[in-house]
Amino acid sequence: MGIQFNSATGVFALETAHTSYHMQVDERGHLLHLYYGRTIGQGNLSALYPRADHGFSPDYYACRRERGVSPDVLPQEYTGCNVGDFRLSCLVVRNEAGAAGADFVYVSHRIESGKYALEGLPSAHAETGDEVSTLCITLRDFVTGLELDLLYGVFADQDIITRAARLRNNGTESLRLEKVASLCLDLPFGQWDLIHFHGRHAMERQMQRTPLASAIQTVSSTRGASSHHHNPFVILCDRDATETAGLCYGMMLVYSGSHRTDIEVDQNGSTRLVSGIHDERFSWQLKPGESFTAPEALLCCTTSGLTDLSQRYQHFVRHNICRSPYRFKRRPVLINNWEATYFQFNTESICRIAEKAASLGVEMLVLDDGWFGKRNDDNSGLGDWFVNEEKLPGGLKPLIERINALGMKFGIWVEPEMISEDSDLYRAHHDWALTLPGRDPAMGRDQLVLDMGRQEVVDYLVEVLSDLLRNNHIEYVKWDMNRNMSDVYSRALPPERQGEVAHRYMLGVYRLLDTLTTRFPQVLFEGCAGGGGRFDAGMLAYFPQIWCSDDTDAIERLIIQHGTSFGYPISAMGAHVSACPNHQTGRTTPLWTRAVVAMSGTFGYELDLGKLSEEECHQVRQQIETFKQLYDVIQNGRYYRLSDPSRQLRYTAWQTVTDTESLVSLVLTHPEANARPLHLCLQGLEEDALYRVESLRIYGTTSTPENGAADADAYAGAVYSGSTLMYAGYTLPRMVGDFPSVQLHLVRV
Ligand code: DGJ
Repeated sequence: MGIQFNSATGVFALETAHTSYHMQVDERGHLLHLYYGRTIGQGNLSALYPRADHGFSPDYYACRRERGVSPDVLPQEYTGCNVGDFRLSCLVVRNEAGAAGADFVYVSHRIESGKYALEGLPSAHAETGDEVSTLCITLRDFVTGLELDLLYGVFADQDIITRAARLRNNGTESLRLEKVASLCLDLPFGQWDLIHFHGRHAMERQMQRTPLASAIQTVSSTRGASSHHHNPFVILCDRDATETAGLCYGMMLVYSGSHRTDIEVDQNGSTRLVSGIHDERFSWQLKPGESFTAPEALLCCTTSGLTDLSQRYQHFVRHNICRSPYRFKRRPVLINNWEATYFQFNTESICRIAEKAASLGVEMLVLDDGWFGKRNDDNSGLGDWFVNEEKLPGGLKPLIERINALGMKFGIWVEPEMISEDSDLYRAHHDWALTLPGRDPAMGRDQLVLDMGRQEVVDYLVEVLSDLLRNNHIEYVKWDMNRNMSDVYSRALPPERQGEVAHRYMLGVYRLLDTLTTRFPQVLFEGCAGGGGRFDAGMLAYFPQIWCSDDTDAIERLIIQHGTSFGYPISAMGAHVSACPNHQTGRTTPLWTRAVVAMSGTFGYELDLGKLSEEECHQVRQQIETFKQLYDVIQNGRYYRLSDPSRQLRYTAWQTVTDTESLVSLVLTHPEANARPLHLCLQGLEEDALYRVESLRIYGTTSTPENGAADADAYAGAVYSGSTLMYAGYTLPRMVGDFPSVQLHLVRV
């Protein structure tokens, strides 16, 4: 395992527990990709790419007579620019004469233990010293002097290979980068399905699976954020891959801005994936001596199907991307006032919510939008991060003292990257907003985006937010971001650098987050962008959790959380129980079903608890106790999807498994008349181990003994082998009604 270089053959072999990744420096010095897939050890791959002349695929100059050696046909590790490979390219670079061209050849390489870091960008880290080794291959274009470092972090036990690319202008002319991908992945053979996660505000990360066409398909965002619309995570898998079998490749960007992943199936049936910062309106001036680093990407390959791929990403993101001290801790059960009050609250109404919540076992109150500036609706106040004393007389301190006196922690909402026109900050610094000269800007939620690429803007926010956190006993911050970036123009940059604004914005955001999370490690930060509009590995490097979606409807959440689970851990998914009828869909679901769904996330409440009946309050108390009891198996267990909500419309089921217990959760989404048996084959258990049904809880069913209801208590205590539960399965009692749910808790005996 690890990284080997064979100087006789020029082959680099990256070996993980179950996969091999091979590259080769060819006779001309070009770095070819040879293979990525199931382990082949030091296998000889020379038979894979016989010389063959393909019409209209040009040869390298040195091979112009013998023919059949074309950059357009051979798999590339990172493409050049404008030098004969007509497939997707990684790079567009121009010199001062306007000539676009680069042809990289091998110069040197370094193999080191430990993990490389990327200046200014989030990236994976090692938890232990010997967990990862780094390969850096340096290539050079001898005409421009442009040097390219290809970086590989090999996390052998985890079957994860990280990649990044760094460009350095070692020439004498200024260069303009018009496209810089993080990676290229050529899969010369095989036919693949593409799985990606699309959506919209309040309906993010819906999984979609389609066979790749002989064309270019794109998953992207030009919104200045990774977006609600296309997550920067894709999977290519065998056409017949399932949850439990088949070859799958994952590619996840560690980046939160505009991104683009193109996948091309070319004339020879070969597949190429190129991914990185979106190149629309992007350009970056690289003067002699300057460098540019493209964000990191996380590659994973498994032959064991989609569940294995997901578990590897879930584990890696939690252990090696998240840095927060909270990543392995149980987060406090919180009550957020947003859907309870929106902007209409004051100290007294917040304290009433907190008192009720404390009496039911809630551990933290989060004061959402509206506590600052002149913020009585969403048309004003962003930028003025000082307390609105009309709502909160005496400021935050007396409120926090009262909350703390209830035995609860206090958390607060901020949206630092934005500015309202109607704010003191805008009146003082209108040039800090991104707007185009001479044009009325497009407005989103009546707010503008701050130019986070400006040093003074980030410095200002560091100080304002540090004061807020220093002067008040705040233990949690919800960091929101509620519009996408248009009118991208910085008043601080010269014309030739305007193509840099969107990426400089992200670098500024990362600097701000890095400073604050380092300065205030005791604060639990939750990311948010109008729900899940920036749910990505870049943000998770700073925030151990992200509000999954502004859609709090439990039934829609099943689809959102299902899609999210393909790449991200449960511990990162912000999820709350909200009121019914639900504020987004108008749907009514049982209170317990809402809790079963929210428990498969960070778990909290977002409703006016004062409006609940005594019976409902009793349920809330029980839910919090249940969450605490089941916390370990839910949040630390291996995660299995037992259904696909896009195909299996009747129910959604999922399971988590530790070495000692397992929890199966199911929500019945379409009850049936004369219902067929609800039968599940469980996963992830030890075949020979015995499991006792600790409890079977059925919530919200209107079944009666007459229409087939079972006494759930009668199921408790039964013992089954793991193989019985996995292969023969388990049949749940019949349920009817609107959206009943089940928690089946098994304990290994
Ligand atoms: C969008 C968030 O996703 C909501 O939870 C809430 O915080 C609002 N913004 C407040 O403006």
